Amino acid sequence: MPLICLASPKGGVGKTTLAANVADALRRRGRRVLSIDFDPQNTLRLHYGVALADGGGFVAGLPMRRDWRQLARPTAAGVALLPHGAIDLRGALGLAAALDRDPELLAAPMREILADPGLLVVADTAPGASQALSLLAPMAAMVVCVLLADATSAALLPEIDSGRFLGTGTLGALLDSRVRVVLNQVDPYSRLSRSAAETVARYLGPRLLGAVCRDEAVAEALASQRMLLDLAPHSRAAEDLREVAGSIEAALPPLPEAVPAAAGPLAWAAR
Ligand SMILES: Nc1ncnc2c1ncn2[C@@H]1O[C@H](COP(=O)(O)OP(=O)(O)OP(=O)(O)O)[C@@H](O)[C@H]1O
Ligand SMILES: [Mg+2]
Repeated sequence: MPLICLASPKGGVGKTTLAANVADALRRRGRRVLSIDFDPQNTLRLHYGVALADGGGFVAGLPMRRDWRQLARPTAAGVALLPHGAIDLRGALGLAAALDRDPELLAAPMREILADPGLLVVADTAPGASQALSLLAPMAAMVVCVLLADATSAALLPEIDSGRFLGTGTLGALLDSRVRVVLNQVDPYSRLSRSAAETVARYLGPRLLGAVCRDEAVAEALASQRMLLDLAPHSRAAEDLREVAGSIEAALPPLPEAVPAAAGPLAWAAR
């Protein structure tokens, strides 16, 4: 049932990479996991080996209120995947207007998905504030905000404090307590990276969930359409990722033991 949203006020920080690999790490911890892509860039699927030309996803069926449980797909990683689906500019504008008029188009299928008590849902989102994020954040058990160990990310800490990127006005502030931060691409051999990471860690205290080092194995895993823990289980980044997944799990309310769903596309048993 718990929803974990990967988000960030900043683009290109590793949200999608961590969404895919955290989902895999949680699956390896015995959870039944569904990974959903809420970013129109539609790139989460690439981590799971979905063909480039395959533009299928939930977005095309949104106006028809299709059941998302039927749209999820099995992946070689053992995580169920619901891609965003390909969308052009006209489609994106139409979708934004439709969601503005009727947020239930997205909220209702999400509630159905989250009603499955043994399912852990990991959602990737677009950079910055988005309609999807402001709808999802109130449903989320945790928003994992990804930052880099650099000056821009340090400058964005007040934005995270205010929760503004999660929603407007009071909503952002209300959701602030669910935000945890992961620092990504930390370079332990760079003075600047180390110093930025230390500054962020001091500022955030226990809200910092963990850090993942910069490691070429992460990009290699995407290039070979495999999960990091599969391709390079002994890499430094893999070690960091396992720790982050453990911290996420520890911070969540206790989950029922992984019980496979009775039938249907979400019926993957934890391995
Ligand atoms: N720990 C890491 N070490 C090395 N490379 C990394 C690491 N994390 C992510 N990357 C690389 O950084 C790039 C950006 O990652 P990703 O696409 O996941 O970012 P994003 O935050 O989802 O971007 P966007 O804001 O566009 O959605 C990718 O090339 C990815 O392979
Ligand atoms: Mg992304």
